[in-house]
Amino acid sequence: MKKLLKYNSCNVLISNNLFNELNYNFNIIKNKRILIITNKLIASLYLSKLKKLFDSVTNYLKYIIIPDGEKYKTMTTVNNIILILLKKNYDNNTIIVSFGGGVISDISGFIASIYKRGIDIIHIPTTLLAQVDACIGNKNSINHKYGKNMIGTFYEPKLILIGLNFLNTLPKKEIYSGLSEIIKYGIIMDKNFFFWIKRNLENLISLKLKLLYQCVTTCCKLKVNIINKNKINNTSRVLLNFGHTFGHAIEKYTNYNYWSHGSAIAVGIIIATYVSLNLNIIKIKHAKLIRSLIIKAKLPIIGPKNMNVNDYINIIKYDKKNNVDSINLILPVSIGTAKIFCNVDKKIIIKSILDSKQDLLSKI
Ligand SMILES: NC(=O)c1ccc[n+]([C@@H]2O[C@H](COP(=O)([O-])OP(=O)(O)OC[C@H]3O[C@@H](n4cnc5c(N)ncnc54)[C@H](O)[C@@H]3O)[C@@H](O)[C@H]2O)c1
Ligand SMILES: [Zn+2]
Repeated sequence: MKKLLKYNSCNVLISNNLFNELNYNFNIIKNKRILIITNKLIASLYLSKLKKLFDSVTNYLKYIIIPDGEKYKTMTTVNNIILILLKKNYDNNTIIVSFGGGVISDISGFIASIYKRGIDIIHIPTTLLAQVDACIGNKNSINHKYGKNMIGTFYEPKLILIGLNFLNTLPKKEIYSGLSEIIKYGIIMDKNFFFWIKRNLENLISLKLKLLYQCVTTCCKLKVNIINKNKINNTSRVLLNFGHTFGHAIEKYTNYNYWSHGSAIAVGIIIATYVSLNLNIIKIKHAKLIRSLIIKAKLPIIGPKNMNVNDYINIIKYDKKNNVDSINLILPVSIGTAKIFCNVDKKIIIKSILDSKQDLLSKI
């Protein structure tokens, strides 16, 4: 197990196999009440192994198993968990271990941040998407009927433990979903990484360990880099939302069912790229490169068939980046660079959604 990086006081450790290589001095856990939050699927695969791992450092370990799925990333789930914590009288000496994908880390992080004004949390991400993105960066959120991730906090975990072994049981469609956020990093901030992904995509999909290690490491570093920059320039962090305005609209429209987060973001990346094309801020050559990498990663480029332009507009007006009536978007300018554009013309947005529906880039 290697130390990947440290941001503020949080260590991020990475290993090929968390259960065989965890040589970490768990001082932060000693004499604490450990509460694992996970879902049924992950529990059936890995919970007994994880419990064994913590056995030597604590004599108090319990777990809560919640239903699987984005549609449970709600206040109802948060309330149910908090009710258990209060009933069992969990105190400030409790440490939550979030054990799962981004849904679990978002819910658990939110609870840790508000329960008794904040208790400790460790993340053990088990999806590619959570390892490269959701677990890093201190943000957590839950969905609301008015939109995705509408309620949340910033809260720093004590430790993040990444085990690449978890990806062996992940369905391929969840690997593709993770690739969407990985491609996002390349487009918004690192041209060389974009072309590295392009060269190594097949081996990443087939989980070649050395490449996966390099990929997860690069993404974590890129994200921490952008977050650190945020302390100086608070517009940089918002770049991470590239593709998310339209992507979140798709997730909400489909009731957080059927579309994985990454698939929705892939279409969001494509629509944002059409907005750039229609504003003449990106070359066709670069837009085509983005489209072809998304396709190569087996991600969709067209949103739900029955979702029309008004459906998108009605949802994106609630996006967190907007101010009152102005729609603000993160748009690609070239491979490796993106910027925030404020008050983007609604007509351009509408045209871009329609262009994406026709896959216009395949015809020019
Ligand atoms: N807080 C942030 O900064 C941030 C960043 C990016 C994404 N997110 C959030 O993350 C969520 C998406 O995360 P996700 O893609 O991990 O989805 P997810 O948590 O729903 O996991 C996807 C599926 O994989 C299953 N799974 C998890 N680990 C597994 C394993 N090792 N083997 C087999 N199956 C496994 C899960 O049970 C689930 O069915 C979204 O809610 C998104 O908003 C948050
Ligand atoms: Zn995302």
